[in-house]
Amino acid sequence: MNKTTNQIRQDFLNFFKEKGHIIIPSSSLVPYNDTTLLFTNAGMNQFKEIFLGEKQRDYPRVVTVQRCLRTGGKHNDLENVGYTSKHHTFFEMLGNFSFNDYFKKEAIEYAWELLTSKKWFNIPKNKLWISVYENDTETYRIWHNIIKIPAERIIKIGDKNNSQYDSENFWQMGDSGPCGPCTEIFYDYGSTDIKSSIDFLKNENNRFVEIWNIVFIEFNRISQTKIISLKNKSIDTGMGLERISAVLQNVYSNYDIDIFQELIKSIFASSTIKNLNHISLKVIADHIRSCVYIIADNIFPSNEHRGYVLRRIIRRALRHGHKIGIKENFLYKLVPNVIKIMGKSADILKLKKDKIEEILKAEEIQFSNTLNKGLKILNSEIQKTYNNVLSGKTVFYLYDTFGFPVDLTEDVCREKKIKIDYTGYKVAKEEQKKRSNLKNKFYKNYNNNIFINDECIFQGYKKNKTKALVKYIFINNQFVSKISKNENGIIFLNTTPFYGESGGQKGDIGKLYYKKSCFIVEDTKKYKKTTGHIGKLISGEIKINDYVFSEIDENYRHSIELNHSATHLLHAALRNVLGNNVYQKGSLVTNAYLRFDFSCSKFITMSEIQKIEHIVNIQIRKNILIKIENLDLEKAKLKNAIALFDHQYSSIVRVVSMNNFSIELCGGTHTKRTGDIGFFKIISQSSISSGIKRIEAVTGENAINYLHKKDSDIQNISFILNCNQSNIKEKINQILIKTKNLEKKIKQLQKQEKKYYIKQLLENIKNIQEIKFLSHIFYNYEHILLKTIVDELKTQIDNTIIILVNVIDNRFTILVQVSKKVTNWIAAKKIMEIIIDQTNGKGGGKKEMAEGGGVYTIKLPIILKNIQSWINIELEKKKNNKCI
Ligand code: ALA
Repeated sequence: MNKTTNQIRQDFLNFFKEKGHIIIPSSSLVPYNDTTLLFTNAGMNQFKEIFLGEKQRDYPRVVTVQRCLRTGGKHNDLENVGYTSKHHTFFEMLGNFSFNDYFKKEAIEYAWELLTSKKWFNIPKNKLWISVYENDTETYRIWHNIIKIPAERIIKIGDKNNSQYDSENFWQMGDSGPCGPCTEIFYDYGSTDIKSSIDFLKNENNRFVEIWNIVFIEFNRISQTKIISLKNKSIDTGMGLERISAVLQNVYSNYDIDIFQELIKSIFASSTIKNLNHISLKVIADHIRSCVYIIADNIFPSNEHRGYVLRRIIRRALRHGHKIGIKENFLYKLVPNVIKIMGKSADILKLKKDKIEEILKAEEIQFSNTLNKGLKILNSEIQKTYNNVLSGKTVFYLYDTFGFPVDLTEDVCREKKIKIDYTGYKVAKEEQKKRSNLKNKFYKNYNNNIFINDECIFQGYKKNKTKALVKYIFINNQFVSKISKNENGIIFLNTTPFYGESGGQKGDIGKLYYKKSCFIVEDTKKYKKTTGHIGKLISGEIKINDYVFSEIDENYRHSIELNHSATHLLHAALRNVLGNNVYQKGSLVTNAYLRFDFSCSKFITMSEIQKIEHIVNIQIRKNILIKIENLDLEKAKLKNAIALFDHQYSSIVRVVSMNNFSIELCGGTHTKRTGDIGFFKIISQSSISSGIKRIEAVTGENAINYLHKKDSDIQNISFILNCNQSNIKEKINQILIKTKNLEKKIKQLQKQEKKYYIKQLLENIKNIQEIKFLSHIFYNYEHILLKTIVDELKTQIDNTIIILVNVIDNRFTILVQVSKKVTNWIAAKKIMEIIIDQTNGKGGGKKEMAEGGGVYTIKLPIILKNIQSWINIELEKKKNNKCI
């Protein structure tokens, strides 16, 4: 009997537990404290700092089952999903790790024992092949001499294109970070005997499948060209659970393993297809796993960053659902199925099941409205393609108007063997970007490229001013020894009262000074464990190793603190009014206002907003003492302290409490008592993406100013309307009724006017041979009325050419209408071409009807006259031709 996937996962943990490894839970799909990665893509991610020697290890050897996502960056499998048997966006990686403990020999021996011993996976030894990094003779020797693998089954893989460390057998986490040579174990799915490495490298029918990668972490990649040796040598291994399950369950495709088959069958049941092997079933089965785990890790669909990856995956899954005839929203209904198949790995999903379903459902409803329309357009554009290339403009239009991520369009095109004009797409996107001036002009790039391996002690919880040693100075990203008058730069100190922007709280401003030297700090940012004071030197000079006084602007900090404490009250009030499903998704606390983003899929009513404001203001009036204490994480949890879920906390945490009303883990600075906040006022509420709302609010003096401004606006409105403030509503209603009546009257007058014009026009018809010609120039008329006049004339006279012009200010619009019969000789489009050619205007149309316009020219009446003669000549010509 084959082992189930859930047994295999557990066996892996048990095996390494027996070998002295500590079982560590999977980390979140959102990498902690690592801007180089969008999503966790390997088991080693959570240990990156330990590998680099930046963090102490808690244990020398550990084992994990890590949830991973490969949808971008160095490791991206999105496009292959469903089309190959071995690729997934989401998968579980089994890994054992040694931190400066055992190295190559034990790592290889452990892997071999687990795979081949009877007690464990019992894979026949002759089914396994090995690859090693060409220069790694030690690893080769271990496989050959100790494990006794025949030489022909150990393949040496070198560098590509003569570029050092660019090899299939040199593993790197991304463009930077820990890396090293690796050895990979392959399973041979073939039945015939193969002895040569050439056949292995050819790998016909993909018979050899990599199942386990053992990486010898020895280096740190700093940049593309720079790689340095690490002090400690470590082991990082990764085996895809789905792949090893396929091997142990005697199937080739990962999609044929027990858990996928169960999921695929439930998707199949709601489809109208007959083929259980349909690609769309695989894509959906893969994508739904990604979706539920991403949401479980507190990422919600949005238009940027991780939220956009999630949105793309959801939309792609929906499109495939549509393709196999699933009519209703279905993704959210698959959540219990995923929970069922994932065994122990579903614990995190169980906790958040309702939330995941709610978010998926909301996103499905939102997108299914546009999916049909967008697909219709895409299919019709595909039919029109020239050379089987879809224009970049269309791809962008689908993205911009219907929310079709490019990879969704690509997916449809791939099926129909259509290519995409990516250059055109980029141009269209750039143009749009320019138009909407998306770039936030206030964005400043504060040299995130500066890396300093040092610490700055923060004293700002207690002090506003300290004496500090200048340790580093940077100007334009360059390390320098001094900064002189009028130069902008970043100064790093050994200690500081300045709060570096983090946790949503803006950085402090203030000054660094000594004797005549003064550096104005305009902003403060964190650079890993140190703090950059960003600003300009206005007098004297500051050198490395100088001592300076560093002093924050107290008023500025105090305003920030009021807003920060108010944010905590708001967070608690939101959970009070909207329920405990409200999670913080982001915040910004400045001296001027506060912004709070949170998960909430329902519409928030005005009365709920007022209730939230009311609750916060009650807590302010209670003037609660704000208590700040450092506690054990476990103790803080017992107090039910609110924490950020995608955040990894250390064992001692800072807890900010306002009685029992609000208890939060927070590293920011706060005011002493809630009463200091004075007054709290919400100034806006919006939805920033599906399931995420944003509230902006002001406090204290700013809240009063806000209300004063509202008061004076109302006063001005009542002045303009000439009424009392209490009557504004009534007055506006009266005006609206009056406007409606006037509009009615205007319409009646226009009707009469139209009748009059039609009569006049009919009296002025000219005959050009057997055709009736009618033209007129209106002044300051409504263009839409021109159309109704033409429509009316059409019904009254036959065999006509009508040209109506309307002039407003110095521009004209023009309508040309030609009766169907007449179009055999003269087309409306042709007449329009002549007019726009002579007026430098723009326009076009068809045989019977054309429209155009441009800048008015006094030549217009003459042009219309000449058109009459042209028509005459044209008619003659056509008749003569006919006779011939
Ligand atoms: N980190 C290695 C991989 O992902 C084990 O393949």
